[in-house]
Amino acid sequence: MAKNKVLVVDDESAIRYTLGEALRGWGYDHIEASTIKEALDQFENEHPLIVLQDIHLPDGSGLDALREYKSRHPQSIIIMMTGNILLDDTISALRGGAYDFIGKPINLRELQVTIRNGIEAGTLRREVRTLRNEQARQFSFDQIIGRSAAMSEMIGLAKKVATSEASAVLLQGESGTGKDLLAKAIHYGSSRASYPFIAINIAAIPGTLIESELFGHEKGAFTDAKNRKEGLFEQAHGGTIFLDEIGELELNLQAKLLRVLEEGSFRRVGGLKDHPLDVRVIAASNRDLKSESESNRFRLDLYYRLSVIQIDLPPLRERGDDVLGLANHYIEHFNQTLRKRIERFTPTVEEIFRHYRWPGNVRELRNVIERAMILEDTHEITPLWLPRDLMRGDESALPVASALSVASPVASVTPTGPEVRSSFVIPESGIDLEQVELSLVQQAMERSGGNQTRAAELLGISRDQLRYRLKKIEE
Ligand SMILES: Nc1ncnc2c1ncn2[C@@H]1O[C@H](COP(=O)(O)OP(=O)(O)OP(=O)(O)O)[C@@H](O)[C@H]1O
Ligand SMILES: [Mg+2]
Repeated sequence: MAKNKVLVVDDESAIRYTLGEALRGWGYDHIEASTIKEALDQFENEHPLIVLQDIHLPDGSGLDALREYKSRHPQSIIIMMTGNILLDDTISALRGGAYDFIGKPINLRELQVTIRNGIEAGTLRREVRTLRNEQARQFSFDQIIGRSAAMSEMIGLAKKVATSEASAVLLQGESGTGKDLLAKAIHYGSSRASYPFIAINIAAIPGTLIESELFGHEKGAFTDAKNRKEGLFEQAHGGTIFLDEIGELELNLQAKLLRVLEEGSFRRVGGLKDHPLDVRVIAASNRDLKSESESNRFRLDLYYRLSVIQIDLPPLRERGDDVLGLANHYIEHFNQTLRKRIERFTPTVEEIFRHYRWPGNVRELRNVIERAMILEDTHEITPLWLPRDLMRGDESALPVASALSVASPVASVTPTGPEVRSSFVIPESGIDLEQVELSLVQQAMERSGGNQTRAAELLGISRDQLRYRLKKIEE
């Protein structure tokens, strides 16, 4: 859209001439039209940011043209001009999205100010639109990585929910499974995308402040309420409110929230008036609210209201090869932000990633990769820089893990004097000797802060033997 271009639409050539001269004097480009048809052609071809539109034209009403402009380019600035300001026209023009209204005969001084303000407003509108597009792209469903069956199903459901009329959605999943990410994708993938997305973490706000934070308060509602305050529900009007960690909401506020959802209206603290609610509520919890409600920590009726649309985010360990897809995504990401040139993981690392339980889910994976990439100087991520937890794993995770969990100097089954130190109990399921060795080498390297001589001492081998093993790990 041409920032300095103004389209003048009037059937009187004298007016077009006068305005044209004035616009040129103020430094604007200008184009003209004497009919609506001509005006729409000019509008389409020349992309003016501002239109000065007369109301009564030989081939129709300027108000119809206004509607047409707005439907083609909603951020264009239309200023209506008319000889007889009829109230009806004014109101319907402003309702139709006119930026302003100016009476004839035109006061040029007034017009100049109106146009200047209009350009400013139009430029802002364009910036807002660009930012919104940028956000919509940044938070779109496309940014959610995962091709596993579990994820495809989950994303399919979420997309459906996004474009539906659902007024409440519940996201449940362990910490780090992507609830924040999904809440934003649902918002930006909905017809609410051009309205606000407001997030609040219930756990982060003192219980006593939550009600006024959510619903606002009237002046004097309580001692500190010096002024009227708009709540987050009001700020989110037309958009989405994200209530993170909903399980932390106190029971009496759970009752209030339920009432708001059921009645479709809310009241400020200390207020007497009900305000209609046009907000989609997305609630999230990393606890199972159903079982919370069985132990009376969450209201069952609120749970039922929220869980009409419930989306469960699968834990990372149930997403198959997604873990590798995500890992590769983070390599690319950190190659850019950390200015590194890591190309791949060694097969051992892939194996460890596949079998680890990932209690911290995607967030943990991301952190593990960031750390390894900071420490790694070669083009490959080797097990050397993986945190010990990954190598140790979890009892239930994999044979490697159960083997490693006994790889501490526990007592031998048959103690034989001073040799006890080197005896380990081999569990029924067997062990993976290479993995045990790998883990021990790695632990020694960590404990010695990377000092090979000290690490070799810890392992009771020579420095050359250690070097040989490190080299083997890197291969
Ligand atoms: N499927 C995914 N694709 C890409 N990135 C993801 C995915 N899931 C999660 N992430 C990333 O992992 C990190 C954690 O995700 P997020 O904050 O959404 O988790 P959460 O479920 O809200 O966790 P918590 O319960 O701790 O608040 C973020 O950096 C997010 O961008
Ligand atoms: Mg979160």
